[in-house]
Amino acid sequence: MNTKFEFPKGFLWGTATAAHQVEGNNVNSDIWVMEHVPETPYVESSGDACDHYHRYRPDIALLAELGFNSYRFSIEWARIEPEEGVFSNAVLEHYRDMLRTCHEHNITPIVTYHHFSSPRWLIASGGWESPETPDKFARYCKRATQYLGDLIGAACTINEANIASLIVEWGFAPPPRQLHKKVWWSAAAKALGISPRRFAPFLYATSSKAIDVILTSHHKAAEAIKSASGNFPVGITLALQDIQAADGGEKRASKMRKAINDVYLEALGGDDFVGVQAYSRVRSGPKGLVPPEEGVELTQMGYEFWPEALEATIRDAAAKTGLPVIVTENGIGTADDTRRLEYVRRALQGVINCLQDGLDIRGYTYWSAFDNYEWSLGYRPTFGLIAVDRETQERTVKPSARWLGAIARANSFEQK
Ligand code: BGC
Repeated sequence: MNTKFEFPKGFLWGTATAAHQVEGNNVNSDIWVMEHVPETPYVESSGDACDHYHRYRPDIALLAELGFNSYRFSIEWARIEPEEGVFSNAVLEHYRDMLRTCHEHNITPIVTYHHFSSPRWLIASGGWESPETPDKFARYCKRATQYLGDLIGAACTINEANIASLIVEWGFAPPPRQLHKKVWWSAAAKALGISPRRFAPFLYATSSKAIDVILTSHHKAAEAIKSASGNFPVGITLALQDIQAADGGEKRASKMRKAINDVYLEALGGDDFVGVQAYSRVRSGPKGLVPPEEGVELTQMGYEFWPEALEATIRDAAAKTGLPVIVTENGIGTADDTRRLEYVRRALQGVINCLQDGLDIRGYTYWSAFDNYEWSLGYRPTFGLIAVDRETQERTVKPSARWLGAIARANSFEQK
């Protein structure tokens, strides 16, 4: 028999995007440079992306019409502060209008101040390994909050603060010493005006120095946001895949959990919430990750279809931080929308299990609103609830969007 679960009043139901992945032509950022150097590992240019920089009004209206009551997007540091110390009020006004548009549609905006891409000048001056970066980041956050703060509903300082640790630990990118030998790495460093050895873009900043720079940046930014009249909850988001032990892998899995999750979770005291982002599980054997078992369903990313990762990571993050949780990302790259629906159905069941156990979960955000630029993989993976025609920019709502939007509007869910 089906039973109906009512979510808490005020539960945030949203979708998420990131500036570089949807706005288009983010030409003053480090990632744009990395996309366009010889032998780049980025399979294509982000180009116009979803042209969300110009189409945000109908896009936000569409999300509201579907039933969502929140929208998580990032503001782009490389646009707001195109040269060090030079702030653009015109760009801030653009983001102010995005926030205004959200409010016109009764959508609570969740703003991310940094989502992977950084201004060129920041990288030229040492990027995410430089001890000066936390103050620079805090200065930008303060300025943006002074301009936008009265319209922000909740803020994430940094998206997936632990992403570089994860990328290297799991072998998704070569370790720094090998990166230095790559043609594209040297070319990008040169284009950005820094030596290949000191080149530290966010996604590849893996030294212990970088972890400290990133966490200090978060703390200083949170303080700066609060001091600039930020009267809304402030937190950070983490990439929290469910790390499990395969045969004989308990010790290694526990080491991995420490390095990728716990170092960060344990540093979040004083925040207002923790942003949980989960997509799948990984399994570790005694020597490191083992591939998914033969025959299991894989997503376009090559991840195991494992929506239960969300429940496991919410429980872990809540237990280790003692903070309220917002699910700031959860989703699947798939060409089969019926699998997206099934994935979200099972993930939501996990959220319900946690709520029934008394955990404080404030919202669920699906990644992503649109099919968008999946970093080095280009436009191939399709995470969106809404498809985007790459030539015409025409939006097409997928059935999963209507299904999830209806759950959002009802604030309730029929459990199987
Ligand atoms: C990131 C997004 C990315 C998504 C899907 C998260 O790691 O925050 O930028 O597109 O996962 O891979």
